[in-house]
Order: sequence, then structure tokens, then C-alpha cells
Amino acid sequence: MTSTQFAAGLAALLLIAPMAYAGDPQLGREAVGACATCHGRDGIAMAPDAPNLAGQPESYLVEQIQAYRSGEREHEQMTLIAQSLEDDEIDDIAAYFAAIEITATVPDDLK
Ligand code: HEC
Repeated sequence: MTSTQFAAGLAALLLIAPMAYAGDPQLGREAVGACATCHGRDGIAMAPDAPNLAGQPESYLVEQIQAYRSGEREHEQMTLIAQSLEDDEIDDIAAYFAAIEITATVPDDLK
């Protein structure tokens, strides 16, 4: 691939990306009840083995949930949960968790 082709491909991706996941965070907010026990309503996990979802990129969240649903990524609980979700619910839930602002603080002795 030439660098021109690469640049054209990248430009096309950047144009497509924002449209591909047009979730509605307000609808997502109403749909996350089923996730809250483990991931927290605010996306900060309550269960020790569940990851935080708050502030993760929308595209990452959509891709992971779809991967559980298709079986590409396997986890007993998440596979079942993902299989109960429609495409637009996945987009909305991902938009909701992605919209939550998080901050990270590196401890002074590790800076
Ligand atoms: C019973 C507990 C439980 C519930 C309920 C639950 N999850 Fe999970 N979720 C987990 C666990 C545990 C993992 C880590 C699985 C793994 O190792 O792949 C996970 C992983 C994920 C991931 C991958 C995160 C990453 O950083 O890669 C996403 C996205 C996710 N869950 C979304 C959801 C959504 C959306 C819901 C509600 C519709 C939900 N989960 C409900 C337990 C749960």
C-alpha cells in the first residue's frame, strides 16, 4: 500500500467512524439497569472481576459487546447478557458509558 492509499483509507475511516456508532446516551442511561450490579450505574465496577466501563471509548465498548454476542470474545456471563441486546441498545449503552467523565491520578511517588 502506498502512503497515498493509506492516507485515503485513513480519511475514509475517520469519516465513517463517527457515523458508525451513533448511540443515544439518554436511551442508554435507561438501559444500563441490567449492567449496574456488576459494572455500576456510573460505570465504576461493583463486582471485583468486572472492569470499569466509565469513560471507555464508545467504539471500543460497541466492539467488545458485539464480540461477546458473536462468540468472538468468550465469557459465560457477558456472552448471555450480550445475546439479549439489540444493535441499537448496544450503541446506546456504549454512548452512555463513554459519556461519563473519569479522572486518573498517578500517585506522587510514581510520577
Ligand atoms: C453478572 C455480572 C455482569 C453483568 C450483569 C454485566 N457484566 Fe459486563 N462484564 C462482566 C465481567 C466479569 C466482565 C469481564 C469479562 C472478561 O473477562 O472478558 C465484563 C466485561 C464487559 C465488557 C468488556 C470491558 C472491557 O474493558 O473490555 C463490556 C463492554 C461489558 N462487560 C458490558 C456490559 C453491559 C453493557 C452490561 C449490561 C447490559 C453488562 N456488561 C452486564 C460482568 C458483568
